[in-house]
Amino acid sequence: MPSSIAPHNIALIPGDGIGIAVVSAAMAVADRAAPGLLRTQTFPWSCDHYLQTGRMMPEDGIDTLRQFDAIFLGAVGWPARVPDDVSLHGLLLPIRKAFVQYANIRPHRLLPGVDGPLKAREFDILCIRENTEGEYAGAGGRVHQGTPDEVAVETAVFTRAGVERILRFGFEQAMGRRRMLASVTKSNAQRHSMVFWDQVTRDLAAEYPQVQVSHYHVDAISARMVMAPDTLDVVVASNLFGDILTDLGAAIQGGLGYAASANIDPTRKNPSMFEPVHGSAPDIAHLGIANPIAAIWSLAMMLEHLGEAPTAARIMAAVEATTARGIGTTPGLHKTDDITAAIIAALEE
Ligand code: IPM
Ligand code: MN
Repeated sequence: MPSSIAPHNIALIPGDGIGIAVVSAAMAVADRAAPGLLRTQTFPWSCDHYLQTGRMMPEDGIDTLRQFDAIFLGAVGWPARVPDDVSLHGLLLPIRKAFVQYANIRPHRLLPGVDGPLKAREFDILCIRENTEGEYAGAGGRVHQGTPDEVAVETAVFTRAGVERILRFGFEQAMGRRRMLASVTKSNAQRHSMVFWDQVTRDLAAEYPQVQVSHYHVDAISARMVMAPDTLDVVVASNLFGDILTDLGAAIQGGLGYAASANIDPTRKNPSMFEPVHGSAPDIAHLGIANPIAAIWSLAMMLEHLGEAPTAARIMAAVEATTARGIGTTPGLHKTDDITAAIIAALEE
C-alpha cells in the first residue's frame, strides 16, 4: 500500500529502442507493488521525436520536467537515425546538468543466481560518478574544420565546488556502508586537474577520520575491479572515468542488463533522474528479450529516493527471488514480459 498521502509525480521518458520495453516493465512492477503510489506522465522525447520535430525535447522541456518529483528514463540514442552526439546532447546530458544531478550512483553486485564472469562472488561496489562537469563539461571547439590544419579541443573542467561536493557525497555514502572510499584519478599523468582532485580528497579525508581512503589511478582500479573487487566499497570518479568504470562494473555483475543508476541532485532542489545504464540496444529492440532488471532496480532506487524504502526493498527482494530461480539470468533465454511477470508473481508471495 502507498505509505504516503499523495502520489509521487513521475515524468516517464521511455526514449529509444529497448528503453520503451524496460520502462513499461518497471511501471508494471511499480503498479503491482504499490498501486497508486506513482502518478506518471509519459513524454515521447526520443530520436523519432527528433525526426518529427527537429528537437529531442521541446524548448521548454526542462521547465516541464521541473514540475515533477522525479524522472524515469529508459534509453536515448539510435545512431542509425540521429547521430549520438545530437541525441544525447539534446536530451540526457542537458537534464543531468540543468537539474544539477551531480551524483550518478551505480551499484555493482551479483544478484543471486547470476553467474558473473569472475571467480569472485562476494563484492558490493558503489560507484559514485561525477555527473555535471569534468570531461563532459562541453568546453572546447573545432577550428579549420575539414582542412589539414583542423584543431579539436575538448577541455575537462574541474571546479572546487564540483569536486568537493561529489567527494563529500562519496564520504557520506561510505559512512553508511563499509567505510572505505577509493578516489579515482590519473594524477601521475594529468598534473593539474587530477592532482587537484587528490588534494581535495585528502582535505575531506581529514573530516571523515572513520573512513579508510585509498587513491587509485584509473588504470589500476580497472584491474582491481576484475582481480579483487571484494576489496572495494565506495568508488568516486570523474565523469568520464566513472562512465568507463561503470560499464566494467556492469560486466562483472553479469552484464548491462543488471546495471542500475540514479542521477541525484542531493540538495533536492531539482528532480533526480533514474535510468538503467544500458543503452537503447537497437539490435535487439524488436525481439522482446531486453532484460528489465536494470530498469526495475533503478525503479527501486527511485522509490528509495522518494522516501518509499519499504516498497523499494520489497521490489528488490522480488527481483532477487526471481533471479535465484534462474529467471532473467541468461541473456535471451527469457522474454522481457516473462521476467517481469515472474518478478510481479514474486512480489505477491
Ligand atoms: C551512460 C552513458 C552516457 C554517458 C552516454 C549515452 C552519453 O554511456 O549513462 O553511462 O556517457 O554518460
Ligand atoms: Mn556509459
